[in-house]
Amino acid sequence: MSKEIVLNSPLDMHLHLRDGEMLKLVGPLTSKTFAGALVMPNLVPPVTTKEALLSYKNRIKEACKDDDFEPLMTLFFQEYSREFLEDIKDEIIGIKLYPAGITTNSENGVAAIDAESLRPTLEAMSDFDIPLCIHGETNGFVMDREKEFMPVYEGLAKAFPKLKIIMEHITTKDAVELVEKYDNLFATITLHHLIITLDDVAGGMLQPHLFCKPIAKRYEDRDALLKVALEANPKVMFGSDSAPHPKHKKESCGCAAGVFTSPIALQVLVELFEKHDKLDNLNAFLSLNAQKIYNFKPLTKDITLVKKEFIVPNIYEGFGENVVPMYNNQKLFWSIK
Ligand code: DOR
Ligand code: ZN
Repeated sequence: MSKEIVLNSPLDMHLHLRDGEMLKLVGPLTSKTFAGALVMPNLVPPVTTKEALLSYKNRIKEACKDDDFEPLMTLFFQEYSREFLEDIKDEIIGIKLYPAGITTNSENGVAAIDAESLRPTLEAMSDFDIPLCIHGETNGFVMDREKEFMPVYEGLAKAFPKLKIIMEHITTKDAVELVEKYDNLFATITLHHLIITLDDVAGGMLQPHLFCKPIAKRYEDRDALLKVALEANPKVMFGSDSAPHPKHKKESCGCAAGVFTSPIALQVLVELFEKHDKLDNLNAFLSLNAQKIYNFKPLTKDITLVKKEFIVPNIYEGFGENVVPMYNNQKLFWSIK
């Protein structure tokens, strides 16, 4: 019999589900194999009201209705009143802060991230135990953007010691070092940043489907990420940042940022952890760490993977939309049973 592995309630703690027809196409590609996912709010317009949040949640549930799956909702950060936050706190798992203009649909983000001017909102979040998720990049030189953002994380961690701050999709050795330094800092790590470097994106012919923000970095950065992921360091958890864009927006002049990994994430993570003889740590990286960091219990959902070849589809199509996954047309060693 082929080798099998069971994953208990896998969670994707950073996911772009989009809306409309694209949501109908990509939603089930996560809900089939994950127990829950933290859903990013960077729609157009961004999710900033209770009404918009609840109706988006309903559209996600409708798109994923064939599966047991819990969308963990987030609001798009702006200055919110204490009353508003108190009223919405039970509907959200966190609030996502984007520096203005730094990535896809972040035009309404924060122009200057200054602890003092944001104090009323951040203090209320801290009091209500609402985590702050941050896209941590400056608008400096592309390879240095995350590194340059470290003092901002550090300033916020010190100014609000009880506020849980999630450094989203970390890509550098510097970020790995910083997350260990403060009790209230945590981080998500994507699948692609555990595997690729800038060489894979632009070292040969340009690979638009591997282009994302933050851009993949150096070998030493990837190795630092891999080390904390493989040991399931309790400060880090899996967040795919799977970010679907239609094929024509990726294979074009002015390529949209985002790698689409939802349908292959579990198979490739099992392969990666197996290769490093760390399969025993995978459930912690994929679920237990997130449960502790966010202090919640996910749906019970066991997913079995079997050591059997899986050829990744060239493209996923439906509802008039399409999206090309990472590793399209390539052979993986594990399949969902
Ligand atoms: O590559 C990315 N794509 N990075 C982000 O921060 C946003 C995301 C998207 O929404 O497409
Ligand atoms: Zn993202």
